Amino acid sequence: MRKKVAVIGAGNVGATLSEHIVMSGLSDVVLYDIVEDLPQGKALDMLEATPLWGVSVSVKGTNELKDIEGSDLVVITAGAARKPGMSRDDLLNINAEVVGSVSEAIKKYAPGAVVIVVTNPMDVMAQLCWRTTGFPENRVMGMGGVLDAARFRAFVSMALGVSQTDVEALVLGGHGDQMVPMPRFTTVRGVPITELLDRETIEKLIDRTRNGGAEIVSLLKKGSAYYAPAASTFQMVRAILLDEKRLLPAAAYLRGEYGVEGIYMGVPVVLGAEGVEKVVELSLTDQEKQALQRSVEAVRALVEKLRIGGREF
Ligand code: NAI
Ligand code: 2OP
Repeated sequence: MRKKVAVIGAGNVGATLSEHIVMSGLSDVVLYDIVEDLPQGKALDMLEATPLWGVSVSVKGTNELKDIEGSDLVVITAGAARKPGMSRDDLLNINAEVVGSVSEAIKKYAPGAVVIVVTNPMDVMAQLCWRTTGFPENRVMGMGGVLDAARFRAFVSMALGVSQTDVEALVLGGHGDQMVPMPRFTTVRGVPITELLDRETIEKLIDRTRNGGAEIVSLLKKGSAYYAPAASTFQMVRAILLDEKRLLPAAAYLRGEYGVEGIYMGVPVVLGAEGVEKVVELSLTDQEKQALQRSVEAVRALVEKLRIGGREF
């Protein structure tokens, strides 16, 4: 039987992600939104493209959460997006309500699913989803690091005039202004960029990566980035559906790894059919540890605002 992926939120990220999944032919898709007719319209449009894409999967739009029943994977993209001048954290209260209610429905209708949270502020929303569903932590994660690393990769490739595909990058920490791009683990075909670029240029690329989301918001005027976010989420979806065991950065619940306890944080993980199958721990320099700690504190402050710390087991 084909796998089933539910995408919650048929806005820019949700619809573009659905397009990737349907086009890949990897699974059936259910696209849910509260706005009447919107998910139905987008799903029908995609279904009409399936003969051209040469795939035989189904795609259904719905305003009924019960239609996510039996999903193998659920991606939460529902909620408000950033407007100019808004930080990801400004979205906290608006989106906590959305993610909380959607997570209740996931617990009820798709109790065996792996969940990827995209809605911002993503690290905190992942923690809220994990708390609300009661799922084991390997089955709830957040998408942020793949996107931040993709931006870093794109900027490094432009600075060096090399192919984007030859650049690998790592970004640790929360998906917020305190994220921690890691030049030591950012390479062009294995050569660290610290060998190829001077310190000042690397600092500029790091700053641009940290502000990557805001740069797009200020250009688009309304709404935030969605092509790269959807492509990043699809990389994670694919790794889970195909049990690829890919080493990717994702927001995962930490129990002491990197000295961090009881919070979702962006770290390298192995992604496969079980979700986060392993948290990969790297040894960090003192400076990297301090930068990660600042990011942890920023996320923890929001977790405390919502009072959603660790849960009893
Ligand atoms: P959008 O505004 O285009 O779409 C959001 C959709 O959610 C809308 O269609 C809206 O009707 C729907 N929605 C609102 N409340 C809902 C509910 N209770 N149930 C179901 N649907 C509901 O926004 P976009 O650009 O798709 O972004 C979605 C979220 O993803 C935002 O919070 C944004 O900040 C976040 N995001 C996170 C990224 C990351 O790296 N983690 C990257 C890009 C966006
Ligand atoms: C981004 O980084 C808004 O989180 C979103 O583009």
